[in-house]
Amino acid sequence: MTAPLATPTLTVQTAANPADTRDAVAISPSVHWIGALDPGLRTFDIILKTANGTSYNSYLVRGSEGVAVIDTVKESFSAEFFSRLESVARYEEIKYIVLNHLEPDHSGALPELMRRAPQARLFISKKAQVMLKALLKGSEFEFTSVDTGDSLSLGDRTLSFLHTPFLHWPDTQCTYLPEEGVLFSGDVFGCHFCDPRLFNDRVGDFRFSFEYYYAHIMRPFKRYVLNALALIDPLELAIIAPTHGPVLRDNPRNYLTRYRELSQPAFNSEVGADEKTLLIFYISSYGNTERMAQAIYAGACQVEGVRASLYDLEGSEVAPFVDLIEGADGIMFGTPTINGDSVKPVWDLLSSLALIEVRGKRGAVFGSFGWSGEAVGLVEDRLKGLKIQVPLTGKQVRLIPTDAELAECQQFGVDMARALRSDD
Ligand code: FEO
Repeated sequence: MTAPLATPTLTVQTAANPADTRDAVAISPSVHWIGALDPGLRTFDIILKTANGTSYNSYLVRGSEGVAVIDTVKESFSAEFFSRLESVARYEEIKYIVLNHLEPDHSGALPELMRRAPQARLFISKKAQVMLKALLKGSEFEFTSVDTGDSLSLGDRTLSFLHTPFLHWPDTQCTYLPEEGVLFSGDVFGCHFCDPRLFNDRVGDFRFSFEYYYAHIMRPFKRYVLNALALIDPLELAIIAPTHGPVLRDNPRNYLTRYRELSQPAFNSEVGADEKTLLIFYISSYGNTERMAQAIYAGACQVEGVRASLYDLEGSEVAPFVDLIEGADGIMFGTPTINGDSVKPVWDLLSSLALIEVRGKRGAVFGSFGWSGEAVGLVEDRLKGLKIQVPLTGKQVRLIPTDAELAECQQFGVDMARALRSDD
């Protein structure tokens, strides 16, 4: 990769307010923001709240031998994007188009851009190749896939690529402009915050949005966040230019620091490094599943090197349990069957596990039932769907557990705890 130069001092004129015009906004000597503002959006991707909308940030880089466009916008915002692009470049000048991430909010205007600039060469990550075909059905594009260490020359400007997958799709990458210390980071360091003042030292307080975005988009991929930070950290950084929210030109490194903090465990556990952690959650209508849980807990506590904990789901909100599960080796769910199903507190916790990485943890399910007992199987299926290993067949008891059945539950706890140690 091209060695980064010293961080430059930026002296550029910026438009007063991009919402008032459809002009591009200079963010560094050779880079313009040519994105679009979406202040009316209230929900993104069905699940994310967007209290004051979002932006789809796209950038144009001008070098002595051509122009590059980095990411586009959601298709319905194409007119705004093309107006801004046309205010600073002619289509025939565009030599390269780089897509750091193919999600439609960034690739939506690509087909029309390729039609207007057919000479431009498209650059995507290696993992983006399959997605490009699936997302842009009917549009066949020539492209080049790139990896860490690859770079493009625009004459006196260079674009270098960083392979940063799973932030938050497999295809994601970052692009770096070393001559001006600009990192085009894709969704990384972004947030859904729409403010036409554009720069982090001028917009309103977007801290809540930055944290919320991390929690919902990046948190399940903490491991990959740390890998990406290892690549980004050595770079000279004057500006981080993400695909959503403010352009981060004031203390950009603060955002690396915050990402690193957020990617560490929520708090330090008292559990030793040589111990495994097992969390046993239950909810009980008549005390029968609770009795099973206590017997399982007693059994798990007999196994040396396993720190078991027992929690009644009635006694807490979901968020603290999600934090605990993120750091645990094993999880067990005790659920009664009511009307052929598990119960809402169990499903609420399970549905929140998409926020964290649970692949490879071990899980098991148990519960008392009256006549049908579907809940245990349904929850087991959900655990398997989350790629949690389920080494034991679920333990079920009809109504009130007998002493013999409680002894079986205790053994179930022993077996689960031993399963956690089986890799040692
Ligand atoms: Fe902003 Fe993952 O697209």
